[in-house]
Amino acid sequence: MAITITKLAAMKAAGEKIATLTAYDSSFAHLFDDAGIDALLIGDSLGMVVQGHSSTLPVNVDDIAYHTQAVARGCKNALILADMPFMSMPSLEKTLLNAATLMRAGANMVKIEGGQWLCETIQALVERAVPVCVHMGLTPQSVHLFGGYKVQGRSAQQAADFIAQAKAVEKAGAQLLVVECVPASLGKALSEALTIPVIGIGAGAQTDGQILVMHDMLGITPGKLPKFAKNYMAQANSIPDAIGQYIQEVRQGSFPSSEHIFNE
Ligand code: KIV
Ligand code: NA
Repeated sequence: MAITITKLAAMKAAGEKIATLTAYDSSFAHLFDDAGIDALLIGDSLGMVVQGHSSTLPVNVDDIAYHTQAVARGCKNALILADMPFMSMPSLEKTLLNAATLMRAGANMVKIEGGQWLCETIQALVERAVPVCVHMGLTPQSVHLFGGYKVQGRSAQQAADFIAQAKAVEKAGAQLLVVECVPASLGKALSEALTIPVIGIGAGAQTDGQILVMHDMLGITPGKLPKFAKNYMAQANSIPDAIGQYIQEVRQGSFPSSEHIFNE
């Protein structure tokens, strides 16, 4: 059965963990979908893992739309999220038109990086029937602002600020939150503070769900894996086996374990 945002909210309410991955093409989308993944994200990480750039900044809306079409063709059940890439929201009008491009390509929801400042944008998108996921914490489009890929929300004051901003975007109409590279305690606090599901990556084991970049999960990312990622091919006999193990560990709450987690 097709997974909807309503279903993800019900899973959170029932205490069931949500297992998600990125996907960029039809064949992998098909495998992930068959394995029972809840949602697939066409992430702008494709700039790095597919296009070979050193950041997500070169990715444009047409790139995401192209890969969203491919994923949508391979996917029957999973909820499909598409990233709004760097500088795709220069004005409200352009934001809406870019979001429409991604929805027409097959997305069920768009993901936007930021915080409280997005409230007006979220409201405008939701009013026009575009469901919104907000990405907070280490938002990779801000790498040059942060001065590198660094864990966010480490001080008590930053953590309190994150929670306030997350509550504001929920109130504005966001239906899902992704939080990246924050202390596990903040991942937990965000999940408890919000009614909408919180999907973590490098945000500890107590978020409502997890996401990984598929290349990290399959151990094919060039170079060293990020601390929060796990190569499921290390113990698996096949790609479907690795995908199944990932989903099972997320559902059981055994991924991430302490070695993948950031503390304050
Ligand atoms: O682009 C991406 O893959 C993402 C996930 C890491 C959340 O935004
Ligand atoms: Na992204």
